[in-house]
Parts: sequence; C-alpha cells; structure tokens
Amino acid sequence: MDAYKCIITKRDLRTFTDKPIPDEVLRKILNAGRMSGSSRNRQPWHFVVVRDRDRLRSLAGFGRFAQHVATAAAAVAVVIDDPGSAFDAGRCTQNMMLAAWNFNVASCPATPHNADEAKRFLAVPPGKALPIILSFGYPRASGRGPIERTALRILAGRGRQPLRSLVSWDNYGR
Ligand SMILES: Cc1cc2nc3c(=O)[nH]c(=O)nc-3n(C[C@H](O)[C@H](O)[C@H](O)COP(=O)(O)O)c2cc1C
Repeated sequence: MDAYKCIITKRDLRTFTDKPIPDEVLRKILNAGRMSGSSRNRQPWHFVVVRDRDRLRSLAGFGRFAQHVATAAAAVAVVIDDPGSAFDAGRCTQNMMLAAWNFNVASCPATPHNADEAKRFLAVPPGKALPIILSFGYPRASGRGPIERTALRILAGRGRQPLRSLVSWDNYGR
C-alpha cells in the first residue's frame, strides 16, 4: 500500500477475527514504533505486548471503552517515561497502527481510565505513564465491514471535518 493511501484509509476498527498476527508482522509493527522520532531522540517509550486471551480480557477492564481489547489478537500497552512525552507517544502509536494497516491488520486505541490498576497489572515501574493501549487484529467482516468496503467509505471522506474548516493560511481563521 502506498503511504498516503495507508494514512487516508486507516480507520479505528474494533471487531477482530480469531486469526493470530504472525510473529514477523507483529515484529514489524513494533519496529515501526521503535523507529519513531521523539523529542531530543529520547525514545521515552516501552511497549508491553499482550497476547494471552485471559490477560487481554483483564486489560479490557481497565478502560471504559476498551472492550475491543478483549477480542484483539494482540494488544500493545504504550508506556512512556513521563506524561510530558505524550506527543512522542502519539507519534509511535500512529506509526504502529499505520504499519499494521499496511499488513491489513486493523487497530484501535483504548484509553486506560484506570491507568494505575492497568500499570499494576502489567508491572509497569512507578513513575512511568500508560497513556494508551492499542488493539491489533484482522478485521471481522461483521463489524464495520470488510477492509475494502471500509476503505471505500473513507475515500468518500466520511467522518471528518472538511479541510477548509480546519486550515487557515497566514493567520488563524482567515
Ligand atoms: C487518544 C485517543 C484515545 C482513544 N480512546 C479510545 C477508547 O478508549 N475506546 C475506543 O473505542 N476508541 C478510542 N479511540 C478511538 C477514537 O474513537 C477514534 O480515533 C475516532 O472515533 C475516529 O475513528 P475513525 O478513524 O475510525 O473514524 C481513541 C482515540 C484516541 C486518539
């Protein structure tokens, strides 16, 4: 998939098949996170991969809208060194999700509203932050529809504000 198409067609899908993600694909997804740029190249992240179904179900319980984590083939909990590294976390999470989409693996972020409990569950060291958990899996056709149908809807520009309403040139609002 070319990069622009990958970006434009990426949707956050929440229903996954039981098909596991091959190790080499998962490795490439994680490597896409690793290669992300970060402030002063600090690379302030650590990725905790969870594939065990019972552990995925438990993880899903730490967010109010994290049910999709329970059915994912894999979840990646993104741990950062401090809450100030949120922009860096955003860059590496999006890189991982786009790399996944390139291999037809769908994904969706989940906010761990009970982050402290989630951190205990994952044995995250004190002082580190857990801003987001990513679900990954092959998309289930009975969810939002097969990849092809989803992509077509996206290409029609569904679900986003028009460019003219969010871009101004030279000064804000003009
Ligand atoms: C920081 C952040 C947190 C999110 N948390 C959740 C979440 O807890 N549960 C969920 O189902 N989706 C979550 N999402 C996904 C958003 O709902 C999704 O990006 C938005 O609806 C656009 O989806 P689309 O790209 O499929 O149109 C989150 C997204 C972001 C960027």
